[in-house]
Amino acid sequence: MAKTMQNKGGPGARLNEKMAELTDTVQSSQAWNSIFRPGSIFRKGYTDSPRNRSYVIMNSVLYHLHPVKVKRHAVKVSYTLCLGGLSFFLFILLTVTGIFLMFFYRPTAAQAWNDIYALQTSVTFGLLVRNMHRWGAHLMVLSVFLHMARVFYHGAYKPPREFNWVIGVVLLLLTLLLSFTGYLLPWDQLALWAVTVGTNMMGYTPVFGNQVRFVLLGGAEIGSDTLLRWYVLHVLMLPFVIVIFMAIHFWRVRKDGGISGPL
Ligand code: HEM
Repeated sequence: MAKTMQNKGGPGARLNEKMAELTDTVQSSQAWNSIFRPGSIFRKGYTDSPRNRSYVIMNSVLYHLHPVKVKRHAVKVSYTLCLGGLSFFLFILLTVTGIFLMFFYRPTAAQAWNDIYALQTSVTFGLLVRNMHRWGAHLMVLSVFLHMARVFYHGAYKPPREFNWVIGVVLLLLTLLLSFTGYLLPWDQLALWAVTVGTNMMGYTPVFGNQVRFVLLGGAEIGSDTLLRWYVLHVLMLPFVIVIFMAIHFWRVRKDGGISGPL
């Protein structure tokens, strides 16, 4: 009893009191509450309630991309096989590795191939990053296609998801265009002839085939102007457009009631 009385007024108790006061002052400050939003376990008087759990999702920049509630089947990997998520992950990987490649590559007929060669032979991790970019591109085409097949198999293209299916078709076309425009950039024989064949085929478009071919080549035949044109499309325009369509795609998944249910 005497010992407890001593502890109550002792230096340890006073320190605890001071700490509690300090915690209270910090947790009541505007700065603290502007960082730790409602629902955070660091807020004063936090309790583990369904409302606070919802707040955590709504108030976090990363979590809020997900809906507050998800259906049980939607989080089952065996349902979606995460193919849409995988396509998105590959797009991020391609963006990061692509930015690395841009540091070492100049899009002119005189420099392009030499830059790629130097990247592989004298840049640290150059060969690895180039291969990650190339294989990532092949895998993205495959994963987007398989994702589309999964959506079709589950009949998820039916109302109310028909608009998102159309957005998906645009995403597939953009993915293919990104792949095709990237193909020319190494400026090797394979790239040159593949693009010559591809643009010749586009030249057979009815009515304005010649004009299409001219616009794509930046001239009458494949050359440095074509390379610059396809480079700008590959690193700037197509990624910019695909990001906009992805944002609409994800937003629509949420608006259409999340992932479609099992058959
Ligand atoms: C860049 C390409 C694409 C990305 C990053 C992407 C991403 C996603 C993601 C993350 C989901 C959530 C569910 C899941 O993972 O399956 C989804 C759902 C969906 N996607 Fe895609 N997608 C792409 C291309 C496509 C294509 C080519 C189509 C069809 C033509 C399509 C149609 C749909 C539809 C209809 C849903 C809703 C599925 C459901 O409710 O079960 N997407 N997409």
